[in-house]
Amino acid sequence: MTSLRERLGLRLPLVLAPMAGGVSTPALVAAVSEAGGLGSLGAAYLSPAEILKAGQEIRRQTARPWALNLFAPQEVRPVSGTQVTTALAELAPFHAELGLPAPGFSERPEPDFAEQLAAALSLRPAALSFTFGLLSAAQLAQVRAAGALAIGTATGVDEARALAAAGVDAVVVQGGAAGGHRGGWQHDELADTFALTRAVAQVVDLPLIAAGGLMTAGDVRSALDTGAELAQCGTAFLLADEAGTSAPYRAALAHGGETVLTRSFSGRPARGLKNAVTEGVQHPLPYPQQNALTRPMRTAAAQAGRAEFLSLWAGTGVGQVRPGPAPEVARALAGEG
Ligand SMILES: Cc1cc2nc3c(=O)[nH]c(=O)nc-3n(C[C@H](O)[C@H](O)[C@H](O)COP(=O)(O)O)c2cc1C
Repeated sequence: MTSLRERLGLRLPLVLAPMAGGVSTPALVAAVSEAGGLGSLGAAYLSPAEILKAGQEIRRQTARPWALNLFAPQEVRPVSGTQVTTALAELAPFHAELGLPAPGFSERPEPDFAEQLAAALSLRPAALSFTFGLLSAAQLAQVRAAGALAIGTATGVDEARALAAAGVDAVVVQGGAAGGHRGGWQHDELADTFALTRAVAQVVDLPLIAAGGLMTAGDVRSALDTGAELAQCGTAFLLADEAGTSAPYRAALAHGGETVLTRSFSGRPARGLKNAVTEGVQHPLPYPQQNALTRPMRTAAAQAGRAEFLSLWAGTGVGQVRPGPAPEVARALAGEG
């Protein structure tokens, strides 16, 4: 079987984790691909037009392979009036501190997945990765017809099996240390990255990409030794020059601290640095409603430089994150630094 690394034409056994919300800029994606890894654009929050623009920007900066990442379509669960009142009340003090009008609830729809996928595939990325669930057989066929590899995300052995049965080309195995959203949709094992990779390798005959807490060349080496073909790193790139990480987010990362799993910002569990919102919001709406609800607060907080109201996604390895140009970070992770 041709290795995933060969199929993707990668010089380094490294994937830049897709980081939606503006962190994985076209410049960061292109820099990692140019260095020989697989840059990935986190496009989940982008409209189809924004996806096209970002993809064209990547194309201008590199002819190397890169990946595009989307969130698998989610069932939107209805919420009661009481749930909304409680969620609004929890956010009200933060809005007041930021000088924003009181929070309001609107059923603003997320970007349409079919349209996002069509835009993504028209860019002919080398791979289309996804998280939060499965794609349908028709959607996977669409990915394949566009010449892209389909890569799903699993947080446990059963999810990896389900992705393999659905017919993906490779699986991202996300350990509990990972920064950002949990990609699971069944039971999240929150497992050690190496142990989970080993367990999945025993039951799934597909190329694996290990993710979660991989901050050094030694970590990447260990991930490859446990059965992964590639290592996917997110947190390690958060302070890269080319990353879209905002100034207050960068300052908070450099300061470090404890990470927590929280549903406070989006309604889905995600790992990030503890702050006023992770501590103060205890009754979030489900995803995607909570994500929409907290958007005005997050936007205003980034502008005002107030990290205590921002989602500060980071993995447990955050204490080891260093600034620098992305190609240097990539080469260091691959043991060439
Ligand atoms: C800021 C941030 C945003 C993320 N956004 C996404 C995303 O849009 N799609 C996705 O599949 N994974 C996303 N992740 C998770 C990564 O794919 C990956 O699992 C994680 O970064 C690996 O752990 P590490 O951060 O310890 O390296 C994100 C992670 C971070 C830190």
